[in-house]
Amino acid sequence: MAYSRFSLEGRVALVTGARRGIGKGIALGLAEAEADVAVCDLVVQSGELRSVARSIRDLGRRSLALKCDVARKSQVDRMVERVENRLGPIDILVNNAGVESIHGMLDTTEDEWHRVLNADLTSCFFCAQAVGKSMVQRRQGSIINIASGAGIRGFAGRNTYNVAKAGVIMLTKVLARDWARYNVRVNAIAPTIVRTDMMAAWDEELIAAEAARIPLKRLAEVSDLVGPALFLASDAAAYITGDTLLVDGGQLT
Ligand SMILES: NC(=O)c1ccc[n+]([C@@H]2O[C@H](COP(=O)([O-])OP(=O)(O)OC[C@H]3O[C@@H](n4cnc5c(N)ncnc54)[C@H](O)[C@@H]3O)[C@@H](O)[C@H]2O)c1
Repeated sequence: MAYSRFSLEGRVALVTGARRGIGKGIALGLAEAEADVAVCDLVVQSGELRSVARSIRDLGRRSLALKCDVARKSQVDRMVERVENRLGPIDILVNNAGVESIHGMLDTTEDEWHRVLNADLTSCFFCAQAVGKSMVQRRQGSIINIASGAGIRGFAGRNTYNVAKAGVIMLTKVLARDWARYNVRVNAIAPTIVRTDMMAAWDEELIAAEAARIPLKRLAEVSDLVGPALFLASDAAAYITGDTLLVDGGQLT
């Protein structure tokens, strides 16, 4: 490793919503940087999550794949206990799990409002609280919340998602303030449009139109999120906390 403060050797990480997309990319990146990585997801029947854990082991790191609905506190507490028993105390938490929601204000039902806030925001609180207990005790930890450009700028038709992601950015700030005295750093990453399954419904015309509006003239790939996450996880970012790092090709600048 050219600059040793980027190394994650010997660290234990947990990535939520890691069976595919951004979570999978970050989990594999953490393993390449020599962390042991536990992965969880709500969906496990497809075998994708187990395959991510296998790829992590193929990189020579320890891994664990667990089914967990991160919107449910009891499941989160059980999962964190299992990870810590098997891999040791968690040094890095990546709160990545989330759901999209495309509804106008008048079409958003009570159930949809709660579904999105629970999956995108409350989940980050439950996971941070569960993992934070031992981080605070050990005076060491880095939490990375995957927010969104939608938490900074309002986008029509995505109201619940916008509100949830704005909440993630504020949760990042209050946790950072609360836990800075224990050397636990909390930061967020805000991507705008990343090419993942979450946007499977988009046609190529819409993708091209969006890309044209972005200063760097392309949508983000999952790989564009990995470096920023590794940086925030590592000691290279030791003096950064409470920040939201935009990964947006210049779109919100
Ligand atoms: N793709 C984008 O353009 C984009 C842009 C900005 C932010 N984000 C955020 O990045 C994160 C990952 O997005 P992605 O595009 O990789 O999406 P994705 O749908 O490919 O992956 C999300 C994963 O989270 C899991 N998940 C959902 N609810 C869960 C729950 N309650 N418990 C456990 N797992 C759950 C899903 O099963 C899925 O595997 C999300 O938080 C999303 O809001 C994505």
